[in-house]
Amino acid sequence: MSVRTKIKTIISSDKVDYSTTVKGWVRTFRNNQFLALNDGSTIKTLQVVVDRENTSEDILKRINTGAAIAATGKVVASQGAGQKVELQAESVQILGDADPEKYPLQPKKHSLEFLREIAHLRFRTNTFGAIFRIRHSVAFAIHQFFNERGFVYLHTPIITGSDAEGAGEMFQVTTLDLAAVPKSEEGDIDFKQDFFNKQTNLTVSGQLEAELGALALSDVYTFGPTFRAENSNTSRHLAEFWMIEPEMAFADLTDDMNLAEDMLKYVIKYCLDKHQDDLEFLEQRLTKEESAKPANERSPMPLREKLQFCIENDFERLTYTEAIKILMNSKPNKKKKFQFVIEEWGADLQSEHERYLVEKHFKKPVILTDYPKDIKAFYMRMNKDDKTVRAMDILFPGIGEIVGGSQREERLDVLLKRMKDFDIPEHEMEWFLDTRRFGTCEHAGFGLGFERLILFITGMANIRDVIPFPRYPGSAEF
Ligand code: 4AD
Ligand code: MG
Repeated sequence: MSVRTKIKTIISSDKVDYSTTVKGWVRTFRNNQFLALNDGSTIKTLQVVVDRENTSEDILKRINTGAAIAATGKVVASQGAGQKVELQAESVQILGDADPEKYPLQPKKHSLEFLREIAHLRFRTNTFGAIFRIRHSVAFAIHQFFNERGFVYLHTPIITGSDAEGAGEMFQVTTLDLAAVPKSEEGDIDFKQDFFNKQTNLTVSGQLEAELGALALSDVYTFGPTFRAENSNTSRHLAEFWMIEPEMAFADLTDDMNLAEDMLKYVIKYCLDKHQDDLEFLEQRLTKEESAKPANERSPMPLREKLQFCIENDFERLTYTEAIKILMNSKPNKKKKFQFVIEEWGADLQSEHERYLVEKHFKKPVILTDYPKDIKAFYMRMNKDDKTVRAMDILFPGIGEIVGGSQREERLDVLLKRMKDFDIPEHEMEWFLDTRRFGTCEHAGFGLGFERLILFITGMANIRDVIPFPRYPGSAEF
C-alpha cells in the first residue's frame, strides 16, 4: 500500500509544498479539471486539480461521481476561493469505477426516505458522514466519561431468560423447528427441547444483570444493543437500539440524576469541541429544512446554540405530581388540544405532554421524578407515601424521554411484594433476589437511549437516520 494522507490531515494543516497521495471517492468533477474528493475523514472535500493535458482520455472519462480514485501530487496553497489548500495532481489512478448511468447518488439533493432505501450507500453523503462520525464520538465520549469516574464496563447478556422491564415485548430466540414444534403432554410448547432447555429472548435491558455487578464492583455500566418488539412505528422507536445503563451502589436518586446530567453535558461538550465542521453542516441543513415549516414548529435556536444552552443550564427538576398540575392547567389540556387529555393524577405521560413541559413550559431539559408506582417497573424504590416510586425520566427538547432510571428497591420484603403485584414469578428471579438477601444496599441507575441522544445532537428528526441499518416493524434490510 502506498503512503496515503487522509484529507482531514491535509486540510486541517497549513503545511504546503509537499508531495503525497490521497485516496477517496469522487463527489464532483468540473471542466475535466477540478475534482472534489472526499474520504470520509472530514465533511470537507479536497480539491484535486487534474492535469488534463497529461491525463489520458480514458482516465478523464472514468472520473465520475462515486468512483474511488488515488491521486498523487503536490499540496499547494489554493488560488481559488473556498479552500486554503489543494492537490496539484501529477497522476490519477482509478481504483473502482462508478457507472454514472447506474450510481444512485448523483450530486443533487436526495430525500432522507430515498437514502434510507439505499442505506448501504448513504454513508457517502455529507449528512450521513457527519452523523456517523458524531455517533462514533458520542460512543467514545461515553466510555471516556465512565472510565474517568472509575466505572467498570460490564458486558451483560444479549440472549436472556428474563424480562427485565416486565414489558412482555420481546423477540424470542429459539432453534426449535417452527414447522414441527415439540409439545409437552399438556399440549404446551416443550421448551425443554430448545437450545437452552428453556424459553429465551433477546434482552430488552441489561439493568438487572448490571445491578448484580454494581453490588460488588460499586460502579458499573453497560453499553450494548437492546431489542424491543413493540409495534411502535414512530420517529423515536427502533426494534434494535443501543442503550447505556450505569448502575451505582451506595447511591440514591439524586446521585443518579447528577450522574445523568453530568454525563449528557460531558458528551455534548465533547461533540461541540470535536465536531464543529459536522455540526455546522447539520445546523445549516436543519435551518434549511425548517424554513419550510410554520414558525411555531421551528427550533427556537440554531443547533449549536441549543447544544451550548444545554451544557450551560441546569436541568429543571420536579416531581411527576408537580408536572401533572402544570399540565392540567395548561392551555392545550384545557382546550382539549392534546391527543390524550390528562384527566387526573396517575395518568401516564405521552410524548406530547413531555414535549409541552420541555419546549413550551420550561424551555430547557427537564427531570421528572417520583412517578406513580402503577406506571413504572417493579424494581423501583417505593416512597413513604406508598403511591409513588423513586423514578426519574429526563426529557429533552424535540425528543421527549431520553433517559429513564430509578433508585432501586433494595428491601427484600418490599421487592417481593412488588413482584407479586406484577405477577413476576419469584422462582425465576432467585438470582436477582440474592443481592437483596446478602449485603443489600441503596443503589440506583438509569438507561440512556443512545440513538435518542444522537438525534438531539445531530438535529435529525427520525431515529431511523441515526443508526446505520435501522430495524423497525416490517423492515430488517441489509
Ligand atoms: O425507559 P426504559 O425502558 O428503561 C429501561 O430499560 C431501564 N431498565 C433503564 C435502567 O434503569 N437501567 O429505556 C431507557 C431509554 C429510554 O429513556 C429511551 O431513551 C430508550 O431507552 N428507548 C428506546 N430508544 C429507541 N427505541 C426504543 N424502542 C426505545 N425504548 C426505550
Ligand atoms: Mg422509560
